[in-house]
Amino acid sequence: MDKLNVGVIGTGWCGGIRAETCAKSAIVDELHVAEIKEDRLKEIIGLTNPTSSTTDYREIIENKDIQAVIISTTPENLHFPMAKEALMAGKHVLLEKPIARTLLEADELIKISEDKKLKFQIGYSQRFRSKYNYARQKLLDGTIGEPVSVFISRNITQQLSKRIVGRTRLSPAAMEATHDLDFALWCLAPRKPIRVYSQQVEKVLIKSSNSPDCQFIMVTLDDGTVITVGAGWVLPSSYPNYSSTKMEFIGSEGAVIIDDTHSDVTLMTQKRGIEYPMSSMPGEPVGHVFAGPMAEETNNFLECVLFDRPTIVQAREARKVMEVYLAADLSAERGEPISMPMNMDPLADKGE
Ligand SMILES: NC(=O)c1ccc[n+]([C@@H]2O[C@H](COP(=O)([O-])OP(=O)(O)OC[C@H]3O[C@@H](n4cnc5c(N)ncnc54)[C@H](O)[C@@H]3O)[C@@H](O)[C@H]2O)c1
Repeated sequence: MDKLNVGVIGTGWCGGIRAETCAKSAIVDELHVAEIKEDRLKEIIGLTNPTSSTTDYREIIENKDIQAVIISTTPENLHFPMAKEALMAGKHVLLEKPIARTLLEADELIKISEDKKLKFQIGYSQRFRSKYNYARQKLLDGTIGEPVSVFISRNITQQLSKRIVGRTRLSPAAMEATHDLDFALWCLAPRKPIRVYSQQVEKVLIKSSNSPDCQFIMVTLDDGTVITVGAGWVLPSSYPNYSSTKMEFIGSEGAVIIDDTHSDVTLMTQKRGIEYPMSSMPGEPVGHVFAGPMAEETNNFLECVLFDRPTIVQAREARKVMEVYLAADLSAERGEPISMPMNMDPLADKGE
């Protein structure tokens, strides 16, 4: 096999970036797209000129010539059944986070992928951001010494958070902090989380969407290092675009501090005022390149499938992140720290 045939299911914001990336890839032969919104399907056909397009994703699952499937659908409760169908059909899968709704579901997907020797990658795109990888490198090569603490604060605007809370009951920990928990745990591996404490604030969104405004999570690792992640959903819509992030990696011999507020590129127009145009987490297309990590992540997945390389994100790591954010939700609910590993699955009965 010297090229891949790829299916993208759900071609909204993220799936659109994935499909556009596949369409430009030298190692993709056929691109197949599935999207239930007919107008968006038309648009994506225009952008990617796929071999086939459909409103019925099962055509992709049933197509024996397709080796890899990217699942980018919302609402998030579609992730588990679609990934299960794709893996059962023998496809390698790149699935947007969250991996599933419950740890039991995640375990089932991981087992199928391992039994069938299929790549199963979860879309933790922030692992493909160069600034963040610089911090990881400085930790791994010993430049900042023994890690002491990691602090990551990410805020998204109310405009964006309304889209999220409009489609899922999943918490800021599950939907937003998940990226930063994943990144910090990846940087600090093989250290393991042993305790999680979390608090949510409910002052603003609770009135309109019955949702928390933010969630702060402290994770203690088995060597004593502490990770603190704050995920906020109420940045005013007047903020010049989608998201603003700050990171601090503090070690015994040094520190790396990252400004990811996106204020390095500013657009000013009479009509729309000031904008930070390239501040979305996936990273929109800018001419022939992309402003963020999702395109690179997609290409990396395709290469891992074609050349049989291990994926950068292992599904078992995504499961660990899930365990941490479920513990965070439980901690916020109970107002007390939760010990890890958890041997319960608090979302199992909620039917999200
Ligand atoms: N990695 C990142 O940086 C990042 C950023 C944002 C969102 N996400 C994740 O990516 C996923 C997609 O988010 P989005 O913002 O692109 O959502 P979106 O709503 O823009 O796109 C989802 C698309 O799936 C389509 N869809 C739904 N059911 C379908 C079906 N049965 N068959 C085919 N298509 C179907 C919808 O019509 C929609 O166009 C989410 O689960 C989210 O958690 C990841």
